[in-house]
Amino acid sequence: MTTRRDFLVSSAAVGGALALGARGAAHAQPGPVATFPTTAQQQRRKIKLLILGGTGFIGPHMVRYAVERGHEVTIFNRGRSAPGMFKGVEELTGDRAANQIDSLKGRRWDAVIDNSASRADAPDWVRNSAGLLKDASDQYLFISTRSVFSDLSMVPASVNAPLLNKQNTPNWKEGQPYPYGLAKALAEAEAKAAFGNRTTIVRPGLIVGPGDDTDRFTYWPVRIERGGEILAPGDPNNDRVQVIDVRDLCEWSVRLCEAKTYGTFMGVGPLNGRSMAEFLYGIAAVTSAPLSWTWVPREFLAQHNMRPYQEMPVWRPPTPGFEGFARFDLSREVAAGLTFRTLADTASATLAFHHARPAAQQVLKAGAKAEQEAAVLKAWKERARG
Ligand SMILES: NC(=O)c1ccc[n+]([C@@H]2O[C@H](COP(=O)([O-])OP(=O)(O)OC[C@H]3O[C@@H](n4cnc5c(N)ncnc54)[C@H](OP(=O)(O)O)[C@@H]3O)[C@@H](O)[C@H]2O)c1
Repeated sequence: MTTRRDFLVSSAAVGGALALGARGAAHAQPGPVATFPTTAQQQRRKIKLLILGGTGFIGPHMVRYAVERGHEVTIFNRGRSAPGMFKGVEELTGDRAANQIDSLKGRRWDAVIDNSASRADAPDWVRNSAGLLKDASDQYLFISTRSVFSDLSMVPASVNAPLLNKQNTPNWKEGQPYPYGLAKALAEAEAKAAFGNRTTIVRPGLIVGPGDDTDRFTYWPVRIERGGEILAPGDPNNDRVQVIDVRDLCEWSVRLCEAKTYGTFMGVGPLNGRSMAEFLYGIAAVTSAPLSWTWVPREFLAQHNMRPYQEMPVWRPPTPGFEGFARFDLSREVAAGLTFRTLADTASATLAFHHARPAAQQVLKAGAKAEQEAAVLKAWKERARG
């Protein structure tokens, strides 16, 4: 039985250089990590890196990669999710929700990566931590989100699209908790207020791959691996997908710190995105169960409560104002060193992660249940028969 933490620690051990806690050490094997060398990698310098949120989903992928590349890593958490996860990595404790961040005082780092500010009070968290660290670090890299945009009607989309603010956020009034996208947009502004042009903002879309316990991407490899008739949503060629493998996001974030790259970037991929057909058929390439596809248009799915990003995760058909949601021009990001694993790698690694979980965690949290999918397929065929 393997938990997310065990899986990630064991993955880190296979990667090689990281000294691990007791459970992970048993699996340790030497071996290189498969990544594409980039200019930024070749020119890398050793840095002192502080990661706010070094456990959880994305943090461990950053820690693993940074340690492998010889950096001196400190993590800062409450110590609840996975205390002592990494042996040989300094762990500071505190609670950003209560502004208990004294353990960060009197220290110096080359760069800070802020993963953990994602709640409604994220602007306060970032104001406090960036304010405290602005003279103690050369760079502040804030992991933001694609949800900060108020308007993605331009195709291709870019980081310069309009952002949510207190005036344009739908269904929100002053005095209410900030919704996620607005909280992250305001938190970005707090990072920039403290660090100015030494700020790096990375805005990921859906982060997928090993360790993701939301199951939004995982639904598709698991469903496809089961085989049979698969309900595929929307327009196979014109509905687009841009997500990011957690390892691509985390490794690039570390390299942005090595290279002292500042500015605002998207964290999605691959370069030209994918159609839904490329996405689903690409995942099918790593499975072997007999299967067939039935593409059902979005209007019919809406009538049967098969919602984008809910019962049909990852899929988000273009709606007015969001035509560019999965059509970002990523040339700046690629120039700044963003690389993309293959979809086959992401799908295989996700399946390996999924199958290593305890049985209770293999009950997916996202996506349609089998009986719901079957009922919609039946209704679609009855309608098609007239
Ligand atoms: N998942 C996605 O698809 C997605 C998409 C776009 C952007 N993002 C962004 O990605 C970031 C990371 O997400 P994640 O899924 O890795 O988060 P996570 O799994 O919830 O991990 C959160 C980390 O922060 C620490 N933490 C939580 N509360 C804390 C507190 N009060 N004080 C100090 N440390 C605290 C946790 O450790 P302890 O529990 O030990 O404190 C843990 O290390 C977030 O900023 C999110 O907005 C995610």
